[in-house]
Amino acid sequence: MRLQDCHNFSDFRRMAQRRLPGPIFNYIDGAADDEVTYRRNTESFETCDLIPNVLRGVSEIDMSVTVMGQKLAMPVYCSPTALQRLFHHQGERAVAKAAAKYGTMFGVSSLGTVSLEEARKISSGPQVYQFYFHRDRGLNRAMMQRAKDIGVEVMMLTVDSITGGNRERDKRTGFAIPFKLNLAGMLQFALKPGWALNYFTHEGFKLPQLDEHVDMGGGTMSISRYFTEMLDPSMTWDDVAEMVRLWSGPFCLKGIMSVEDAKRAVEIGCSGIVLSNHGGRQLDGSRAAFDQLAEIVDAVGDRIDVIMDGGVQRGTHVLKALSLGAKAVGVGRYYLFPLAAAGQAGVERALEQMRVEIERGMKLMGCTSIEQLTRENLRFR
Ligand SMILES: Cc1cc2nc3c(=O)[nH]c(=O)nc-3n(C[C@H](O)[C@H](O)[C@H](O)COP(=O)(O)O)c2cc1C
Repeated sequence: MRLQDCHNFSDFRRMAQRRLPGPIFNYIDGAADDEVTYRRNTESFETCDLIPNVLRGVSEIDMSVTVMGQKLAMPVYCSPTALQRLFHHQGERAVAKAAAKYGTMFGVSSLGTVSLEEARKISSGPQVYQFYFHRDRGLNRAMMQRAKDIGVEVMMLTVDSITGGNRERDKRTGFAIPFKLNLAGMLQFALKPGWALNYFTHEGFKLPQLDEHVDMGGGTMSISRYFTEMLDPSMTWDDVAEMVRLWSGPFCLKGIMSVEDAKRAVEIGCSGIVLSNHGGRQLDGSRAAFDQLAEIVDAVGDRIDVIMDGGVQRGTHVLKALSLGAKAVGVGRYYLFPLAAAGQAGVERALEQMRVEIERGMKLMGCTSIEQLTRENLRFR
């Protein structure tokens, strides 16, 4: 299978599956418990239909948006995801370059495998730092200061991961950092020598956002221990309010789902909220962001930028979310499978397909700019 054979999400997913050892593919592809929320994320877009208008003169399309003060050439950005160099040796570098080429925002995870600083040098476009809240408040301040010093624009605090989701696929394969593969998992690695060659002939695995601040024991401290020992499950709204004040720039909370929380995010001065269930990887049975979007936009959409992610695989999914009032849409697996399949060229191809699908969709809808997408153009079944 070649990159030219990839025309949509499923094609990239299939190509990634062929290239990646099973445990890594399943880490990306999998979600929590019975994966009900994961499936619903994409299905939710099929609960409504677009109603196009015609004969409106659509030769020039402007799909740019401004979200949290950042101008994006397209309304889709690369949501922060962990461990990207494990999927392809180019990892975050590929994503930062591709995002820059398409004029959009990208996130670097706290569990990223390339440093914030290096990512900043690669892309001059809006960069997000995805942050977890540590027990050590001094550490939180130091990490934020580091991001501020290098010119990261947006702080994104993930609030839906107060404890890890139950990823049963990872339990079955033994996927963990560091690797604790069972025999079946090891066999899966042996079956993909191409991946192994690529991985072991490039720089070693590291987590630069953490290594400088947290004693990861030279790679022996596991990510699950990092979550249980370093992160603070007693975090409250007051703690976050202090972070927002300290950052004094665009700050958003990722993983807000209720109207009550959305209102509190407004009250503490956040500039954005990302409606998200973490790609179905945390609380299985929680609502899909798209299903919850209208309720949140109605409650706070005039006071804060409402963004959503989860299950987005098509330009028309994005058009539906924007029609309901989202300011932008995040994608995770949509760019991770292309990254795993073909590195930067894969991510670029996926973003290009998304751009073309949005452009085509807008023309067919009779819209020349994003604000023309409204609920008038949408009917729920
Ligand atoms: C492999 C993988 C790793 C992820 N790592 C992080 C992370 O480190 N921090 C975070 O806030 N979200 C993380 N996410 C969640 C994404 O940012 C995003 O919310 C989710 O992928 C959106 O759903 P989608 O994959 O269906 O587009 C991760 C998602 C995946 C698939």
